[in-house]
Amino acid sequence: MTKVIIVSDAAELAREAAQRFTQLAIEAVAERGRFSVALSGGSTSVPLYRQLAEQPDQVPWERVHLFWGDERSVPPNHPDSNFRLAEEALISHVPIPACNVHRVQGELQPEAAAPAYAAAIHAFFGEIWPRFDLVLLGLGNDGHTASLFPGSPALRETARPVVAVMANYQDRPAHRVTLTLPAINAGHQILFLATGAAKAEIVAAVLQEPNGNFPAQLIQPAAGQLTWLLDAPAASRLTATPLQSGG
Ligand code: 6PG
Repeated sequence: MTKVIIVSDAAELAREAAQRFTQLAIEAVAERGRFSVALSGGSTSVPLYRQLAEQPDQVPWERVHLFWGDERSVPPNHPDSNFRLAEEALISHVPIPACNVHRVQGELQPEAAAPAYAAAIHAFFGEIWPRFDLVLLGLGNDGHTASLFPGSPALRETARPVVAVMANYQDRPAHRVTLTLPAINAGHQILFLATGAAKAEIVAAVLQEPNGNFPAQLIQPAAGQLTWLLDAPAASRLTATPLQSGG
């Protein structure tokens, strides 16, 4: 069942998400010896990364493995790099071993970066399909998530966990590499984060318009838990009673 959790504001959302990340890390390490996470790109998750960086001793970082749900085709030091965002806000501040950071090679052509990233996933999970302990996702104003955009052929991909895509969205790089739907949907925990009034309309559409044809609606974990963590402005156009609210 999908859980919707509403907290007061973006700062509270970062704290709540960091608490969940920490708890899931502790549980996964206890159960499986490691914690695998696919980070989201974009700006929404940055306060979460900063929050985690402020409490570095609470997460067993030496057992955490970071992947990305998607990456833009830019070098890792480029301002549009999703890796760089996480590196600056989180990775450089916590004791995670460098070999536990499995970034997409945005500096390669996306058609080369996608199979290289799929191979890294295969090497880590021991099979083609990943089963991330946690997949973090953001939501675009057009209903995209990761780099799964409306109308994209990537939405129909069933054979590969990672594909190259092209999509124009705001002023962001068009060439990208993304996890596919089955790769995301195999996750144990999938956590969408959305903050701010600018997201209110699309949050309501994705959560309340059946068959809205938004890629985010295709995130339906096969055997995992899907949770939406919203701040009050992002949740302000929801009309139905959320399943859970807090903060
Ligand atoms: C990316 C993404 C993308 C992002 C949403 C939300 O690389 O652009 O992973 O799916 O999460 O577009 O972006 P914001 O958080 O910046 O609104």
